[in-house]
Amino acid sequence: MYIDTREHESDWQRTYRLLITFIQPRPIALVSTLSQDGVRNLAPFSLYNLVSANPPVVMVAPSFRRDRSSKDTLRNVEAAGEFVVATVTQAIVERANQCAYEYPPDIDEFDKSGLTPAPASLVGPPLVKESPVNIECSLLEIKRFGDQPGSGSVIFGRILAIHVDDYLLADDGLIDPDKLEAIGRMGRCTYVRTTEHFDLPLPTQG
Ligand SMILES: Cc1cc2nc3c(=O)[nH]c(=O)nc-3n(C[C@H](O)[C@H](O)[C@H](O)COP(=O)(O)O)c2cc1C
Repeated sequence: MYIDTREHESDWQRTYRLLITFIQPRPIALVSTLSQDGVRNLAPFSLYNLVSANPPVVMVAPSFRRDRSSKDTLRNVEAAGEFVVATVTQAIVERANQCAYEYPPDIDEFDKSGLTPAPASLVGPPLVKESPVNIECSLLEIKRFGDQPGSGSVIFGRILAIHVDDYLLADDGLIDPDKLEAIGRMGRCTYVRTTEHFDLPLPTQG
């Protein structure tokens, strides 16, 4: 198969479905925000990653819906300039998935999913109590890639604070992946566990 994506712009949904079957596995950010009216919002995003270590910066990319409307997360981050990312683990993956339902902006996805809000230290949006790792972020900038259905907007957020449940910590002070049990997203509706892994040290000579 060979695809020149410039010839398939009208078929962007098929191209997207193909792309996410090899740009994978993707970590899942469960993003907590507050609307201007103070309504809590929670939604999963697998177009998510760490993009800078110093300063520590993450990116999350909500795309426009098929009717070209903005997702609540993007609107809330634009207005309030802050958000929390909770790590999606095996224990909460179904509840995180429920938050992907397109609820109207006045609906609180904490209530709908059964996840529990917990106060953050530095920002307004709450942490997700059931997630053992939450990060508090302030908006740096938003980079838009158009205003069409499916066009992405990348939210860059500076990580202000990191909350890690102590039981996750290994002797080296880092997180034990077997205790974290993070979940990754693949294509279709497929997910992957991260409890099967192997070590490969960096090369010591060229
Ligand atoms: C695991 C998972 C990952 C998702 N990743 C993204 C993503 O990266 N970008 C996106 O626009 N939508 C993504 N979605 C869909 C959004 O979660 C969904 O549109 C949600 O309703 C948006 O909520 P909001 O309007 O409250 O922001 C994903 C859904 C799931 C289940």
